[in-house]
Amino acid sequence: MKAAIVYATKYGCTKKCAEMLKTYLNGEADILSAKSDKISLAQYDTVFIGGSVYMGKIQKEITHFCKRNLKQLLHKKIGLFACCYTPKDTEGFFETLFPLELLHHASYVTSVGGKMDYDKMNFLYRKLFQSLKKIDGFNEGFIEPEINAEEIKKLAELANMN
Ligand SMILES: Cc1cc2nc3c(=O)[nH]c(=O)nc-3n(C[C@H](O)[C@H](O)[C@H](O)COP(=O)(O)O)c2cc1C
Repeated sequence: MKAAIVYATKYGCTKKCAEMLKTYLNGEADILSAKSDKISLAQYDTVFIGGSVYMGKIQKEITHFCKRNLKQLLHKKIGLFACCYTPKDTEGFFETLFPLELLHHASYVTSVGGKMDYDKMNFLYRKLFQSLKKIDGFNEGFIEPEINAEEIKKLAELANMN
């Protein structure tokens, strides 16, 4: 069994989650950037796909990767994850991030938490987030995210079960 972990990140948190996932896998795994258009999935029987979420959207490289490889992905064991502050049980959340067909085919779909990297954040993003925090109801419900290692372990289990 060989797994691919395809990720897209802005400030590095999703890459860190991909690396954690690799350490929890029993078998061989390659970590691949979704930015590369040279990814060949033929050698993998399990594919994990993860990206971070900004203003309700997953990284565009993930959307393109899923669309480009959809047919092939539907023949593999799939784990999907979002790196973000939205909790995994938020109704309708994943439907806005991944193609429905892939979502229904996936063995496990989750949010693995994240990190708000205020030091690395550029001016525009810091401003955007300040605006978000002014929206009624957002600030009250907002909890500073942390990486959820337990959810990453659960993702790994789907590949380790073989
Ligand atoms: C400007 C901004 C907008 C964000 N928008 C969302 C959002 O709409 N939903 C969400 O769940 N998380 C959102 N986040 C949280 C990021 O997804 C989170 O910080 C993630 O860990 C970033 O991962 P990365 O370093 O791999 O890009 C936002 C963060 C920033 C800075």
